[in-house]
Amino acid sequence: MVKPKAAVFASGTGSNFTAIMEADDLRCDVALLVCDVQTAKVIEKAKRLNVQTYVFHPKSFANKSAYETELLHVLREYGIDWVFLAGYMRLIGDVLLEAYSGKIVNIHPSYLPEFPGKDAIGQAYRAGVSETGVTIHFVDEGMDTGPIIKQEKVSIQTDDTIETLAKKIHALEHELY
Ligand code: GRF
Repeated sequence: MVKPKAAVFASGTGSNFTAIMEADDLRCDVALLVCDVQTAKVIEKAKRLNVQTYVFHPKSFANKSAYETELLHVLREYGIDWVFLAGYMRLIGDVLLEAYSGKIVNIHPSYLPEFPGKDAIGQAYRAGVSETGVTIHFVDEGMDTGPIIKQEKVSIQTDDTIETLAKKIHALEHELY
């Protein structure tokens, strides 16, 4: 059976990208990494794994619609069916949402709807709550608001530091995604 083709969008370290690539029960082929940060570590990771990369510079486009239109061309060239956001630090706009309706998925390091947005691990830690988590959800026009596919909780112990908490959350992310 021909597997659907996926692109991973990432802006940073790429530990989730690596986890996806190393999963042995993956039901799609990751054909492309899309990255908006020229210096992101994820680019080297993709090259080492022989995944094609498309790196773009958002500021060289007039606006979000302009760079997403370009991304759409690239995604179509590669025959991409699904988009997985893995630490992609930009909101997806109308161009991609319309073209890939119901086919864009994100991972977020909190138990949504708690702690959406940036630094979700830090937000939860500083709020002094006893649990947070990881959520995988479909992407809509909001910030971390689309329909939830899967989520799991992570407890925050009194002796947790932000580093130990981040480690637990990332380990769970890599398992779930
Ligand atoms: C992850 O915590 C992900 O949930 C969030 O950004 C982080 C990316 O980490 N959206 P990495 O680049 O996959 O290591």
